[in-house]
Amino acid sequence: MSKKLVAYFSAQGITAKVAKNLAVQAGCDIFEIKPETPYTAGDIRWTNPLARCNKEKISKKDVPIADKIRNFSDYDVVFIGFPIWYFSAPNIIFTFLKSYDWAGKKIALFATSGGSDISKAAEKVSSQLGGSGEVVASKLFTPAVTKADLKQWAESIG
Ligand SMILES: Cc1cc2nc3c(=O)[nH]c(=O)nc-3n(C[C@H](O)[C@H](O)[C@H](O)COP(=O)(O)O)c2cc1C
Repeated sequence: MSKKLVAYFSAQGITAKVAKNLAVQAGCDIFEIKPETPYTAGDIRWTNPLARCNKEKISKKDVPIADKIRNFSDYDVVFIGFPIWYFSAPNIIFTFLKSYDWAGKKIALFATSGGSDISKAAEKVSSQLGGSGEVVASKLFTPAVTKADLKQWAESIG
């Protein structure tokens, strides 16, 4: 059987809830992708041009991550969850991707959003991976997604 991991970033708790339910339904480990410097409410106020989130977006900067997954090579399938930011994935997700060797891994992306879909994020993740690792699925969930739906999705990844 494949060994699975749910890795997620969540600034406001919505993706975190989905990620935790997904890990329970998949019966797998979970890892929170935490920035070294946590986001405050002001940091993610995107209506403020000077907010941290806007500066990071514009500068395309990496966002240093607090922790590393020590047994990463054990996993065959990695679910990566995040909120949609600026129609794509937050910079920290691209920093996360750069931090590991994805060769031979299956990657399943999931996200929550205010309405935008996940297709642009999936394209960008695939292009950053450049053939190392395969994005086998990408799915946008609402906060109301049921445990049964998460279980079915997790099982469909294999
Ligand atoms: C900086 C920032 C940018 C965002 N950009 C988008 C966007 O482009 N499209 C969208 O539908 N929602 C956008 N949102 C809303 C989040 O995707 C949504 O609230 C998400 O469910 C939050 O997940 P979280 O609680 O796990 O952080 C944005 C939120 C933030 C803070």
